[in-house]
Amino acid sequence: MKLQSLRRAASVTLAAASLVIGGAVSGRTADGSGHTDGSGQANGSDQRAAAAPVLRDLAAAKGIYYGTAVTASKLTGTYGTIVGEQFDSITPGNEMKWGSVEPTRGSFNWSGADAVVNYAEAHAQKVRGHTLVWHSQLPNWVSNGSWTADTLRTVMTDHIATEAGRYQGRIDHWDVVNEPFNEDGTRRQSVFQTAIGDSYIADALRAARAADPAAKLYVNDYNVEGVNAKSTALYNLVKSLKEQGVPIDGVGLQAHLILGQVPSTLQANIQRFADLGVDVAITELDIRTTVPPTTAQLAQQKAEYKAVTAACVAVSRCEGVTVWGFTDSDSWIPDVFPGYGAATPYDENFQPKPAYYGIAEALGWTDGGTNPPAGACAVTYTVQSQWNTGFTAQVTIRNTSTAAVNGWTLAWSWPAGQSVTQAWNATVTQSGSAVSAANAGYNAAIAPGASVTFGFNGSWSGGNTAPTAFTLNGTACTVS
Ligand code: XIL
Repeated sequence: MKLQSLRRAASVTLAAASLVIGGAVSGRTADGSGHTDGSGQANGSDQRAAAAPVLRDLAAAKGIYYGTAVTASKLTGTYGTIVGEQFDSITPGNEMKWGSVEPTRGSFNWSGADAVVNYAEAHAQKVRGHTLVWHSQLPNWVSNGSWTADTLRTVMTDHIATEAGRYQGRIDHWDVVNEPFNEDGTRRQSVFQTAIGDSYIADALRAARAADPAAKLYVNDYNVEGVNAKSTALYNLVKSLKEQGVPIDGVGLQAHLILGQVPSTLQANIQRFADLGVDVAITELDIRTTVPPTTAQLAQQKAEYKAVTAACVAVSRCEGVTVWGFTDSDSWIPDVFPGYGAATPYDENFQPKPAYYGIAEALGWTDGGTNPPAGACAVTYTVQSQWNTGFTAQVTIRNTSTAAVNGWTLAWSWPAGQSVTQAWNATVTQSGSAVSAANAGYNAAIAPGASVTFGFNGSWSGGNTAPTAFTLNGTACTVS
């Protein structure tokens, strides 16, 4: 399966019309290739083209896909451009769930799901269908209905026939059944489990195979990334389904992880499923931290995104990795886990974080000298003057690595609701509390040991606390 994805991706590398350089939208270089002329400077306006990683191409070269969950209504502008350029699989975050497609019985809304599938086809991407049978985001008429085993089985298999049938031949992987287990490995008492019994999973898989014979059929769950009671229950389920001849092609490990808690048995766990004769995918990766994250937390998050990606690369039946939202502005974490966030590879302003470079490194990318290693940049932030609602600040970036920086973006988050009103010696943009400062044409290069300085006026109220963490081209800097 890795060879197949390699061939498929190779034919689409040049499909998109604009390039995302490390997540920032830019034009292609003058010759259209994205390559530089060898001088260390790009041919066109972008100074970093030579070194910019493209996750979908790197992943294809390793024989896996790299995907993201998406929100259909956002697939335009910078968001849409990054999705198309960087990822070769997309999963609708909500649009294919039962409650989205059939909120009242017999009344269907396919607009969001159609938009995602159409977008994927226009960008030569796989689609992970998510999800057909799940206890959550179910319409009331299903979750509160009074069912016998036979009536609910018919409703469930009709739903699968309708939805998987609608997209027949256009979905690469279906998460047919989602989250069937409790933490101790017993079955979750969903309406399907209680009305139909253990066999609902086999019934659902058979219905999905009949509706779309080409799609790879998965069972997907969370807290099954390491070897534990829950993942062992999933293992035993897959083993028993295979023994009964039930169609099951893969298991999805969601991987909603907490910083510092990547299971040490992740790769061994992927391997044991592969050894059973099924594929594996990391289906919903995010790594949440307390917010705002410190420089050290961002560096650790980079290492953990790298480790999870590397574990998939290392096992030949691991088909790919999907992040659950590629930008912190489109992540479910802040809504569901109070005090946590910053869980994805791009910040809220679409700037790549260290995590993004961690993924790229696990996929074989090396920075070519333009992306300093962690700790190889130092930032000094000084408030030079402050008055009732305004202030002037100066920021100095020092290149403490041995390689030249050719083009830079410095990113930070305001801890106290400040905002930048006017900047000099850099182009500064802000979205929410996320700020990103990009070089001007004349100060793009920072030689080893050299510094650049830019400044801005800002507004504040309540407090004017200095930012505690900065990244340069996605790499965390020391702060003094
Ligand atoms: C989440 C979505 O991201 C949110 O927008 C929604 O409000 C709740 O569901 N496991 C899953 C996903 O399988 O479908 C969930 O997605 C996250 C947990």
